[in-house]
Amino acid sequence: MGRPIRFLLDGEVRELTDIDPTLTVLNMLRYDLRRIGTKEGCAEGDCGACTVVLGDLEDGRVRFRAVNACILFTPMLDGRALFTVESLKGDGALHPIQQAMVVSHASQCGFCTPGFVMSLYAHQREGAATDCRTLKDALAGNLCRCTGYGPILAAGLAMGADPDARLVEALAVELAAIRGTGSLEVEHGSRRFLAPRTTAEFAAAVEAHPDATILAGGTDVGLWVTKQHRTLPTVISLGEVAELRRVEDLGEAVRIGAGVRYADAEAVFGDLHPEFGELLRRFGGLQVRNLGTICGNIANGSPIGDMPPALIAAGATLVLRKGAATRTLPLEAYFLAYGEQDRAPGEFVEAVIVPKIPAGRVFRLYKLSKRFDQDISAVCAGLSIGVEAGRVTDARIAFGGMAATPKRAAACEAALAGQPWSEATVRLAADALAQDFQPIDDMRASAAYRLRAAQNLLLKAWYESAGAAPTRVLEAEAVAHA
Ligand code: FAD
Ligand code: FES
Ligand code: FES
Repeated sequence: MGRPIRFLLDGEVRELTDIDPTLTVLNMLRYDLRRIGTKEGCAEGDCGACTVVLGDLEDGRVRFRAVNACILFTPMLDGRALFTVESLKGDGALHPIQQAMVVSHASQCGFCTPGFVMSLYAHQREGAATDCRTLKDALAGNLCRCTGYGPILAAGLAMGADPDARLVEALAVELAAIRGTGSLEVEHGSRRFLAPRTTAEFAAAVEAHPDATILAGGTDVGLWVTKQHRTLPTVISLGEVAELRRVEDLGEAVRIGAGVRYADAEAVFGDLHPEFGELLRRFGGLQVRNLGTICGNIANGSPIGDMPPALIAAGATLVLRKGAATRTLPLEAYFLAYGEQDRAPGEFVEAVIVPKIPAGRVFRLYKLSKRFDQDISAVCAGLSIGVEAGRVTDARIAFGGMAATPKRAAACEAALAGQPWSEATVRLAADALAQDFQPIDDMRASAAYRLRAAQNLLLKAWYESAGAAPTRVLEAEAVAHA
């Protein structure tokens, strides 16, 4: 038996031992602690009804993150502070956010309300901007089926500054005290949850347990438990390895460690190219971006993950590690077939290295999904085209949602290379996409739609580069809120 899971709840240290390692925080709260303010809507990270807030000590500062309790395993609370809607009770009066919800008529049946309140709570405690666009981003992972979002946004605009800001320093001291130094090891019958603290320990654990489930943010793995009811005998979490959460500037490229979450990567990707900013903003909702990792989106091998086409187009390299040995490979080579990746037993993705996009390249990322926010792509495109003196020097064209894996479009690239950068060339290259892909029909889109959409995205890139494209959604929004 290892040490207990230790976390803070309303200023009290809670210790848990011998718990099911994949018990969700939602079930722990509702069934064990009887804190039933946190609701279950979908149990798959989609609706935000279960939103709670984690306080975490990061680089000496307490960060407050809204997360979905329904897909968060309880051992992932270790060393953190947990806030639920009950935490806002104080002396019995409504918290200013709750008061703002009441005054703004922002609740009807009330089922979604605790989740919205907690998303706003994280936002307020982070001291984030309270303009309409920032609030919309913060609330995109919360669904309400009866009130309508106008009053809820109004509550966000009216909630004011964090009344507890002065308590943050005390919280930092408490968090430092419970964090301790040793790795966490939870045992429950024959099941285990390991959370090493160094990369070497993590690598050794993965090598020693090649059949274990590697856990990063759990935004996929959580659903294996809540939706597929799978039992995971051994889980090895990389979430506590500080080294893996690093982003390093290598000069010509950046190295993004396996633990880097979407929310942490927004600034670095924005610097690599503004196109990444829009893609990341549309990645799930904030609760998903606060947990999910860039490398998890690669490692899972999904044909509809949004990062692989973008990173393949950028020319990214994957770093894999087994024990002390590392190897690298072009990202596109990692995806072998549906459900099959170039990763040996006991090996894990340590990092992805993304080259900086040279100025002057035509670099475009497009995500097509039925909903603008919090939706999986039907088609996702990464296009990177070098153009000199009006001719294409080289092209890296990659798509998600078009094949059994994320994949480069070899015939399309060949049709572009060396040709004039013109509408005629692009139309021929778009036709060539039919040789590269025979997409499938599914509930997200038909095969015909996918192919036509991919072809049109290539054309759109050309029109945009020629200055002849319609305004994109985010630009239109920016104008609306200016
Ligand atoms: P985990 O769930 O922890 O792991 C995913 C898989 O990768 C597991 O098989 C795990 O064992 C393996 N793994 C993780 N890290 C490593 C590693 N370093 N080495 C080896 N194996 C590893 N995806 C999109 O692409 N676009 C979206 O818009 C999007 N929206 C979503 C919305 C919701 C509500 C949810 C629940 C998910 C969404 N996803 C989306 C899917 C998911 O968020 C991503 O695939 C995510 O990047 C997975 O990362 P993670 O850190 O959560 O991985
Ligand atoms: Fe829907 Fe958790 S219950 S996101
Ligand atoms: Fe009913 Fe939002 S108030 S779902």
